[in-house]
Amino acid sequence: MRISVIGCGYLGAVHAASMASLGHDVVGIDVDAEKIEALAAGRPPFYEPDLPELLAGGLASGRLRFSTDIADAAGSLVHFVAVGTPQLRTGGGADLTYVDAAFASLMPHVASGELVVGKSTVPVGTAARLAKLVEPTGAMLAWNPEFLREGYAVKDTVTPDRLVYGIADGQTASVDLLNEVYATAVSAGTPVVVTDYATAELVKVAANAFLATKISFINAMAEIAEVTGADVTQLADAIGYDVRIGRKFLNAGVGFGGGCLPKDIRAFTARAEELGRGESVAFLKEVDAINLRRRQRAVNMVVEELGGSVFRKKVAVLGLAFKPDSDDVRDSPALDVAVQLHGLGAHVVATDPEAIPNSRRLHPQLSFGTLDEALDGADAVVLLTEWKQYRALNPSSVASKVAHPILVDGRNALDADTWRAAGWTYRGLGRP
Ligand code: UDX
Repeated sequence: MRISVIGCGYLGAVHAASMASLGHDVVGIDVDAEKIEALAAGRPPFYEPDLPELLAGGLASGRLRFSTDIADAAGSLVHFVAVGTPQLRTGGGADLTYVDAAFASLMPHVASGELVVGKSTVPVGTAARLAKLVEPTGAMLAWNPEFLREGYAVKDTVTPDRLVYGIADGQTASVDLLNEVYATAVSAGTPVVVTDYATAELVKVAANAFLATKISFINAMAEIAEVTGADVTQLADAIGYDVRIGRKFLNAGVGFGGGCLPKDIRAFTARAEELGRGESVAFLKEVDAINLRRRQRAVNMVVEELGGSVFRKKVAVLGLAFKPDSDDVRDSPALDVAVQLHGLGAHVVATDPEAIPNSRRLHPQLSFGTLDEALDGADAVVLLTEWKQYRALNPSSVASKVAHPILVDGRNALDADTWRAAGWTYRGLGRP
């Protein structure tokens, strides 16, 4: 099937390459010439496992190409819109500038019988509004939210947990086309939920709100654990055995960040308030507040361990990405903690396997280095992104490099007993 993908960021680039890998003929389009040039040369503009191979395969097969010209979308049977919906600078709501611009520029190239598919995360009600723009072309509009996790983006796109198709009343032809796009997943038995537009839009924000709430719930328990001497990781294990609760997304630490969870809960709150139902999701403000408090707690723990001040102390920051297997530092708790420590006068040397270039662009005032450069003579070590190479560190060999064996584990990713046995002062969030 001929497919166009408008917007080649984290979502669109992966979607375009994945669709080509499934045998479709795909053109990825973006207004950012630099990004398109990189993708066309087989270089992903961000770190994502499996994407380089997929891009290379797609480009070599001739089934995947990239363009800055929206006119190249013409002739595709299905057009995916996968542009970003960042947080507005002026508040918590979603900025729909890119979505509106994508639809406006795409419409002249869309023909009757074709399908336009929104993948961007949008405030409920957006699809119904955009459908009015699509209608005059004779094409159809569907909303098909994406649930991909960075680091697993290719896997989540090619073999999703579920597919959600939000369609206009009675427009079953959209379902047939989407089933053809996702034929591989559908024939493998992937559940397909066909809904109206509003439900499809809400499914996405509800899923992210639930995940954010789950993380903040366990982080709230960490706060209580800290004043009672309890251990939040054991608590998570114990409640997680209840299958109704489950252990996933119950890791307490410096909390959630990234390009989705933080902005999506804020946009959801803003939209609910517009709809006169602010009270229904008022708890999401608390979820956000708990999350941000944990970053502060990690900073305070370092200050405490260094005797009340970090001024002129060398702090090794391990991890900058918002989570492992990503170079994304959007709203990253790790980068935020590093910046706060720097602001308190610490000599922060931060390291990360992938996220240093993005971090440096945002915060050139920080010092960045290799793991050894960060550890060398450090007064304290703070683990903030649980990359597997940090989880595998040997406490004795790390101890031989630092000035003082003080460790704050912001992700509760290390074994406290092993580190303590090697002479470390080990502090975890929500642990005795
Ligand atoms: C998320 C959703 O999972 C995905 O379905 C949606 O499409 C986009 O948003 P992503 O942003 O890639 O995906 O990251 P995710 O794996 O969900 O992690 C989000 C944040 O929560 C990270 O900062 C992570 O470190 C943190 N987290 C996750 C915790 O603090 N504790 C946990 O137990 C799990």
